Amino acid sequence: MSTKRISIIQPDDWHLHVRDGSILKAVIPFSTRQMGRAIIMPNLIPPVADVQSALDYQQRIMSSISKQDSFQALMTLYLTDKTSIETVQQAHRAGIVAFKLYPQGATTNSESGVTDIFKLLPVLEEMQKLGILLLIHGEVTDSKVDIFDREKVFIDRVLIPIKKQIPELKIVFEHITTAEAVSFVETSDHYLAATVTPHHLLFNRNDMLVGGIKPHYYCLPIIKRELHRKALLKGVTGKHHHKFFAGTDSAPHMQHKKESVCGCAGVFNAPIALELYTEIFDKIDALDKLETFTSINGPKFYGLPVNNRQVTLVKKSYQVPDFYEINGEKIIPLLAGQEIAWQLIDDEETKF
Ligand code: DOR
Ligand code: ZN
Repeated sequence: MSTKRISIIQPDDWHLHVRDGSILKAVIPFSTRQMGRAIIMPNLIPPVADVQSALDYQQRIMSSISKQDSFQALMTLYLTDKTSIETVQQAHRAGIVAFKLYPQGATTNSESGVTDIFKLLPVLEEMQKLGILLLIHGEVTDSKVDIFDREKVFIDRVLIPIKKQIPELKIVFEHITTAEAVSFVETSDHYLAATVTPHHLLFNRNDMLVGGIKPHYYCLPIIKRELHRKALLKGVTGKHHHKFFAGTDSAPHMQHKKESVCGCAGVFNAPIALELYTEIFDKIDALDKLETFTSINGPKFYGLPVNNRQVTLVKKSYQVPDFYEINGEKIIPLLAGQEIAWQLIDDEETKF
């Protein structure tokens, strides 16, 4: 029997953390091996909140890449309480594609995030006017709201009112995790779309908590019940599948920061992200929908052309390394030591 294979337009990663310095240098090749472009998250310390910092960061990213002509780092700015209309205008002139809304305290490095988004309505109006996107970490930070309900509550308290007040602002509801989010996206107008990660499509909270706490599955928004995972699978392959696209939210942290009494949120999936998306779509007999999800819906929503290369994957099992070493320290990838079903055929040069 011949090996199952699939060729698709080269994908993009519409939500990626690559950090900085030696971690950046170590992790970026995993993404450039698979992706044509990536939306770079701005949650460094200090955050990337002004145009010059974003351009400098872009420079550091691009100088860490060997084949610079085949990858594009699309930059975002971190929205803060101090973001001004002028910053939005400068961002537009500099080719920054989006602002990222982190509600203050919602996740890793969100200390400088927004305390009250409704105080930034004039800034959002300017973004609407100039066609800059708003990428949203959609969770409330109200301590009274259970962590498993924070996304659902965010829809009612923040997303619905924002959409009413700034109706033509292009919004990406990032890394959605719940049936409520899927249904909100499906019933929204074409100014709203969502990214979905491989880990939220693959795992439920039992995977993270039964038989011992598994810190490498801990991310925010937190992995939910099975019914939500099923809803995500339905969303990305269903009638409104064009509203969903790939955003890995690959978020590397050193092993000691994850395996700790107070472990960081973040799943490092960049080395196997495309392979996992392929496995997920294959398992539910929806390989015919893979390319739209990984390679077409995203650029369409961002108003960009699709990539002009193709990539090929073969169904051949591959054992994920136990760890990657950076300066004598380890980063543990998602599914470390385990077998995955698909492999991207790549050239030697781009291997880590
Ligand atoms: O799990 C997460 N990790 N969620 C986020 O929103 C941020 C990310 C990170 O930067 O580590
Ligand atoms: Zn993220």
